[in-house]
Amino acid sequence: MKEKTFCLIKPDAFERKLVGKILNIVEAHGFEFVAMRFLHLSEKEAEQFYIVHKDKDFYHPLCKYMSSGPVLCLVLEKENAIHDLRELMGSTDPNKANEGTIRNMFGMDIRHNSIHGADSPESAKREIIFFFKGIL
Ligand code: RTP
Ligand code: MG
Repeated sequence: MKEKTFCLIKPDAFERKLVGKILNIVEAHGFEFVAMRFLHLSEKEAEQFYIVHKDKDFYHPLCKYMSSGPVLCLVLEKENAIHDLRELMGSTDPNKANEGTIRNMFGMDIRHNSIHGADSPESAKREIIFFFKGIL
């Protein structure tokens, strides 16, 4: 059965003009684009989006970075979309990400890692609502 997930192209990908390349790879791996939204988050909005990390030491710099430039929010659909997007993204730290993953190919460091993907059905639902039915 087809499943929806939430994906976001991060500011470092915009800065280095990698957005088109990343979308190509996502599309070539069988994901269908269901919705897209181009945004420049405020720091407050980034804080709400990454609220699960509010107690981490990287929370503040993460939210500053996520509001430093544009982002592209996407709803993607395919079988096992949540799991398969996480696989295609690779590990959080691009230096540890497997070859062929988006973070391995394009990520700069553990923060500037080019792409976000929802990590569970609950996160996917929350994040899709956050950007496509929410307050932003
Ligand atoms: P994401 O939520 O963006 O898809 O990334 P993820 O699941 O692979 O990693 P997560 O632990 O949820 O971290 C969220 C984002 O925070 C930044 N980060 N910085 N040690 C650090 O400085 C650090 N660790 C994580 C990254 O941008 C990461 O994607
Ligand atoms: Mg995460």
